[in-house]
Amino acid sequence: MTDKTAHTGKNTGGGDVRLTGISKAYGSFTAVHPLDLTVPQGSFFALLGASGCGKTTTLRMIAGLEDPSTGTIFLGDKDVTDLPPYKRPVNTVFQSYALFPHMDISENIAFGLRRRGIKSVKKQVDDMLELVQLGDKARHKPHQLSGGQQQRVAVARALINHPQVLLLDEPLGALDLKLRRQMQLELKRIQTEVGITFVHVTHDQEEAMTMADQVAVMNGGRVEQLGAPADLYENPQTTFVANFLGTSNLIEAEVLETGSDVVVTAGGGKLRVPGDRCTSAVRQGGKVLVGVRPEKISLAHADDAGSIADGRNRVTGRIVDSSFIGVSTQYVVNSPAGAELQVYEQNIERDARLRPGAEVVLHWNPAHTFGLDAAQDIDAGVETVEDAG
Ligand SMILES: Nc1ncnc2c1ncn2[C@@H]1O[C@H](COP(=O)(O)OP(=O)(O)OP(=O)(O)O)[C@@H](O)[C@H]1O
Ligand SMILES: [Mg+2]
Repeated sequence: MTDKTAHTGKNTGGGDVRLTGISKAYGSFTAVHPLDLTVPQGSFFALLGASGCGKTTTLRMIAGLEDPSTGTIFLGDKDVTDLPPYKRPVNTVFQSYALFPHMDISENIAFGLRRRGIKSVKKQVDDMLELVQLGDKARHKPHQLSGGQQQRVAVARALINHPQVLLLDEPLGALDLKLRRQMQLELKRIQTEVGITFVHVTHDQEEAMTMADQVAVMNGGRVEQLGAPADLYENPQTTFVANFLGTSNLIEAEVLETGSDVVVTAGGGKLRVPGDRCTSAVRQGGKVLVGVRPEKISLAHADDAGSIADGRNRVTGRIVDSSFIGVSTQYVVNSPAGAELQVYEQNIERDARLRPGAEVVLHWNPAHTFGLDAAQDIDAGVETVEDAG
């Protein structure tokens, strides 16, 4: 292909990736339950979830490396379910990028073209080197590059094949945190530049939120919720999503009134939740879970309770722990409404009285409250020390 726009994947007729009723069973174990998923053409799409939830299996089915037990995979209008991997316009980048150690960077990138018998590769390889900003490393061997640079070579090596879709399975998993953050921005830039659909698998919620236009949150072989990062964060529909994406305070409560606002009691006090931020089960009444993010809450010393504006949700409690982490201080508060509520306060004017043992009032704008069905595990998706990665 000599078309200058070819490597950008733009205007090459692509189409959405559409999974309909796709599932995968290994013997009696179901790794992926039937799922319907549309990845819009040209989007950066993340599959996010804890270890073992079925992310890689889903990705491998898109690549053709795994046969689905049920369902159909479309690329645009084309049913590719029965196509072997090499006949799909899809390339995969894995965590272990396995560059060819004896070849230099140019040759590594040219590999896919050479294999198809294409002789004049220089222009395309140069374009790719420029795209991943490694023009000065063309003659280096992989071992002379940093981990992040090697990963960029792996991306270039895949993109030179003009895939319609690039699949990335934890591609940054081997990098240290700082390099990971840099590479997230770098991959996002590359995706924006080439306009190809990226499907990115990660268990790191910050990574998914930083990079993706759309995130599918997976849990136990199912997609729990799909949406734009801010929408998932602000409007979680399940406790798993509320806890897995950032931190949520979930308070057990009972519905008193339903209307445009839902009024609940929790720990002897009343809280308001906007009706349109409640799942349908909440509007049925009964027991519910009321959620609020730690950064939405303000903390007042109990002596100042009188100066809190009317109309705010408020919960009394006692500080049991505080940690100063520079930009903010994170407090843990025990309250009749719930144990170990988390509060993040920006460090602007620090109140020296706010220390462990202090009686406090937590207060926040009711608009920042959401309501969830109580018939689910309140701790689903809470990261435990052993799976913190
Ligand atoms: N070939 C196989 N045979 C049997 N079970 C399998 C096979 N491949 C995967 N599984 C199981 O399917 C489930 C999903 O695996 P998968 O690799 O998709 O998880 P994942 O979300 O990618 O996890 P991780 O974040 O650890 O990579 C796991 O419980 C796994 O043990
Ligand atoms: Mg995996």
